[in-house]
Amino acid sequence: MVQNATLVDHPLIQHKLSLMRDEETQSAVFRQLLREISTLLVYEVLWDLPLKTKKIKTPLEEFDAPVIAGKKLVFVSILRAGNGLLDGMLDLVPLAKVGHIGLYRDPQTLKAVEYYLKLPEDIGKRQVIAVDPMLATANSASAALTRLKEAGATNIKFVCLLSAPEGIEALSGAHPDVPIYTAAIDSHLNDHGYIVPGLGDAGDRMYGTK
Ligand code: PRP
Ligand code: URA
Repeated sequence: MVQNATLVDHPLIQHKLSLMRDEETQSAVFRQLLREISTLLVYEVLWDLPLKTKKIKTPLEEFDAPVIAGKKLVFVSILRAGNGLLDGMLDLVPLAKVGHIGLYRDPQTLKAVEYYLKLPEDIGKRQVIAVDPMLATANSASAALTRLKEAGATNIKFVCLLSAPEGIEALSGAHPDVPIYTAAIDSHLNDHGYIVPGLGDAGDRMYGTK
């Protein structure tokens, strides 16, 4: 645990992430790896999901079986690249509701610019899992969390694939109530705000836009 960040570095995740970092890895494989890692991440992030019991009958006897209590989750994807994490999480938790926040990072100022927002109306009653593969300056994540709080969210976790120490510090400072889950904490940010060694621009690598 670094500040309020939890490092989820299972060997399977590290191996898949190394494949993603390789500049030779093409978009289709990159997306598939991100999807696979996201199922492993969400498994860790949801350890504290509340359970209730439901009476069932096994072939042998009646049994109070543990089941997830209610459908109280919402995944919020920070577009575009957030969708790469979202898809794998929905594979594992198909009944979760989904919100979207469209943000892009202005390349000159590195500030987040919002272009889309659609969230479930009852977000205040739900555990919110906000997802974006990259936590660099944290300008995007911080803006997204502020929007979620304005919409009524009180119980939020932030999940990313790669983070920079600068981003963890900035996000922990701006939103100390939001636990961060990351699969790796890299060395630093370069002069253009890119994570080093990183994997490049996540959205471009997912969709082949560069
Ligand atoms: C990337 C990434 C994050 C942001 C991280 O998005 O997916 O949202 O940069 O950088 P920050 O921590 O410095 O804000 P980008 O702006 O490239 O948009 P995209 O997802 O549409 O490609
Ligand atoms: N956004 C990315 O996609 N990659 C980085 O390294 C930083 C921000």
